[in-house]
Amino acid sequence: MILMNDFESEASEIKQAMLDAVRRVINSGWYILGPEVQAFEQKFADFSGIPYAVSVGNGMDAIEIALRALGIGPGDEVVTTPMTAFATVLAVVRAGATPVLADIDPATGLLSPASVKRCLTPRTRALILVHLYGQVRDMDQWQALCIESGVQLIEDCAQSHGARWNGRTAGSFGSAGAYSFYPTKNLGALGDGGALVTRDEALAARAACLRNYGQSERYVHPEIGLNSRLDEMQAAILSVRLDGLDASTEVRRSIARRYANGITNSRVHLLAPPQQAAAHVYHLFVVLSPKRDALQAHLKAEGVQTLLHYPVPVHHQRSCEDIRRDPAGLPFSEAHAKHCLSLPCHPQMSDADVQRVINAVNSFAG
Ligand SMILES: Cc1ncc(COP(=O)(O)O)c(C=O)c1O
Repeated sequence: MILMNDFESEASEIKQAMLDAVRRVINSGWYILGPEVQAFEQKFADFSGIPYAVSVGNGMDAIEIALRALGIGPGDEVVTTPMTAFATVLAVVRAGATPVLADIDPATGLLSPASVKRCLTPRTRALILVHLYGQVRDMDQWQALCIESGVQLIEDCAQSHGARWNGRTAGSFGSAGAYSFYPTKNLGALGDGGALVTRDEALAARAACLRNYGQSERYVHPEIGLNSRLDEMQAAILSVRLDGLDASTEVRRSIARRYANGITNSRVHLLAPPQQAAAHVYHLFVVLSPKRDALQAHLKAEGVQTLLHYPVPVHHQRSCEDIRRDPAGLPFSEAHAKHCLSLPCHPQMSDADVQRVINAVNSFAG
């Protein structure tokens, strides 16, 4: 079976470097918010070309902390997409704010500016832009829209480590960017992890306070915060894996190029290619088919594992049925949820694996 992720096959040098890192942490006797966390935060900030990176417990907390650090909470509306991990919307609810869902552009799965505009009200305080599947698009327009509308831009970068727009990294366009280091992400820990990146020193300081019980210094709590800290072990692992991120992204890009050129089945549609200013990182390679379930069954029979991102848009979750949304409805999100299929696209795939996936997709007869 060609799997969606294959960590067992990760290069043995990386595994050895991770074991060395874990041994270093064990021998240091310091396990939470210590030198490894500080070093990783600096390294990730440098990698991103953004002055501040504040590590946190996971990607969802990074979004919640970004909102809270910006003073967004009860009575405030936050516009985002139903075509995302549930955590994006849950973070808004956890911050006490009201999520409002806009529809997507069917060509990309990303938010539609026209739909976002229909969702704006005088109470809208922020837009959470999800760089879904590793795509970064139209950042100049999004920045302009947020400035014009007086709303904060928060980037959900959980799927876009290293993605760029005109040479600038995802997370550098808004007030804050929120990263997840969940194991399957392009930069993954061996457990949960996340980070908030920002150019704003005061915001970074407030986020650092919020992640640690709202503590500004020992025994002093000016805010009601969270316990959302990256541990030393995960920080040390992430520092090792960050060294290999550019190389693994290049492998993802070459797989994506081969898929884009090799998939010729007219029953299977590709998403719009990246714009010229964009450097896509292909966290996922997603195709669309009106016969998605049959395609998935066919690929399984051919030995190719696939997943769905996402089969249930947020407004169809029972906990979110009465969530506010674009008054024109969310028809493109509905269709995307029915048609999307994620193909294996990860750095451990061999050339032969990629060809097998292409052959399997092309042999789907519907
Ligand atoms: C787009 C998106 N946002 C947020 C998250 C939440 O990240 P985490 O699982 O680290 O909380 C994820 C991860 O699944 C994600 O893919």
